[in-house]
Amino acid sequence: MTAQRVSGRGNRGCSAAWLAGLAVATSPLVAAPVEVQVLDAAGKPLAGRAVEVLGRLHTSFSTRKRIVGGFYAYDQQRSVKELGTLCSGKTDAQGRLACSVKLQAEGEVELIARAKDDAGLAADVREFIGQEAQHFQNHRRINEIIKRQLGPAVAAELQTIEDRLDADYRRFNASKSRRFNLSYAEGFEAMTCAMALTSIAEAEAGISSMSPGPWGQLWMWHLAEEMEHRTVAFDLYEHLEGSYAYRVIGSIRAQAHFQRTIDRLQRVLLASQGAPAKRHLPPWFTAGRGRYLDTFKPGYNPGEIDPGPIPSLILSRYAA
Ligand SMILES: [Fe+2]
Ligand SMILES: [Fe+2]
Repeated sequence: MTAQRVSGRGNRGCSAAWLAGLAVATSPLVAAPVEVQVLDAAGKPLAGRAVEVLGRLHTSFSTRKRIVGGFYAYDQQRSVKELGTLCSGKTDAQGRLACSVKLQAEGEVELIARAKDDAGLAADVREFIGQEAQHFQNHRRINEIIKRQLGPAVAAELQTIEDRLDADYRRFNASKSRRFNLSYAEGFEAMTCAMALTSIAEAEAGISSMSPGPWGQLWMWHLAEEMEHRTVAFDLYEHLEGSYAYRVIGSIRAQAHFQRTIDRLQRVLLASQGAPAKRHLPPWFTAGRGRYLDTFKPGYNPGEIDPGPIPSLILSRYAA
């Protein structure tokens, strides 16, 4: 028999400038309608704010034991399981978001409404920039190792491609719109998120092509961090721009730009090994294509992706 109970609570945004309230229809539940309202500190509804509803499953088991004298004792065990994001979206003009959550688990389900305020998003963006800056340093170290191994002539060719990419990014920052740059960043992150999910799924299935050595470990760390910060560029784009059509255009532009650069690098590297030139096939377009194509759907939200336990396991190895 199913014993399912739902409790709801509102949760403040990361730095408590807003309040998200939650209303839940009563059980029995298969798909439960949920309504969230976001208000500012003065009680005024906030429109266009990203909200998510998270679930937490509480289960308890009770076992009966016979003890001395014919009496009974009861052992109670409780467990809590995070169900992740059950629904998400943006608030309407009244600061409301209506959605439905599907609950298949048995037990007591706690629903938590979460809205991130501007300060919370700004903190995420700072952390994201710090992580990406560290990625850049590690990519540069690897590039230097490769250049040393391949000699000065090949190194010069690779450097030309790097310089061109560097000049492109400086030009984008200096002369392109905020919308262009944000959609570029989100397109790039959507691609790396899909790639990371595929690599993690392959590792879980034991079919990973990554070496178990330091290069493979470095790559897996990198992908785990891509998963960790997968929502930031999306949240910022949605908060400041929000056009779905432009997000798709920006994504395709970013991925094509990146792909052209990788293709140039591959040609130089293959030639350096005496191998014939070959067009680079992006990994996101071969293995895991479905995950990549999902990023173009109108309802795509990286916050709804469940990355499973592997990224946290990887990152725990590097925790300070
Ligand atoms: Fe990277
Ligand atoms: Fe990233």
